[in-house]
Amino acid sequence: MTEIPRGTLPQATFFELVGGEDTFRRLVHRFYQGVADDPELRALYPEEDLGPAEERLRLFLIQYWGGPRTYSDERGHPRLRMRHGPFTVNQAAHDAWLRHMRDAVDELALDPAHEKQLWDYLVYAAASMVNTPG
Ligand code: HEM
Repeated sequence: MTEIPRGTLPQATFFELVGGEDTFRRLVHRFYQGVADDPELRALYPEEDLGPAEERLRLFLIQYWGGPRTYSDERGHPRLRMRHGPFTVNQAAHDAWLRHMRDAVDELALDPAHEKQLWDYLVYAAASMVNTPG
């Protein structure tokens, strides 16, 4: 039998395994519905139209999980902590952000292992974005 050299078979990315662009579109759309209905968190978002912010977060997450690199083509290196610098991300904002993300993740109904992988990342990333005490 011909041996296939290790590392030459294409590996499915997490992006593909959870359903590709459609899954991330649903996740982030549901998340921003939560933001739109939450006056305190909504006040942090500078634009009147949440559509462009929704697209940036969707493209970032798609890229992070191994999908197309459109985010960096359009926005450059993510540098997310720096990009959040202008916004007051305190404990309350962190908790609200994660609460809406939790609702959005729940609605995807992913298999438990994928759901845990996604959620653990979001919890870790949200903690790293806090830039204001209190
Ligand atoms: C912890 C609570 C968080 C709050 C309150 C928050 C809030 C915000 C706000 C107000 C913006 C500006 C909206 C815009 O113009 O795009 C923003 C942008 C963004 N956020 Fe967050 N964020 C949080 C956590 C996160 C996390 C955990 C991630 C990634 C997993 C993330 C990814 C992004 C991205 C990709 C952008 C757009 C950056 C750009 O290209 O300009 N955020 N966030």
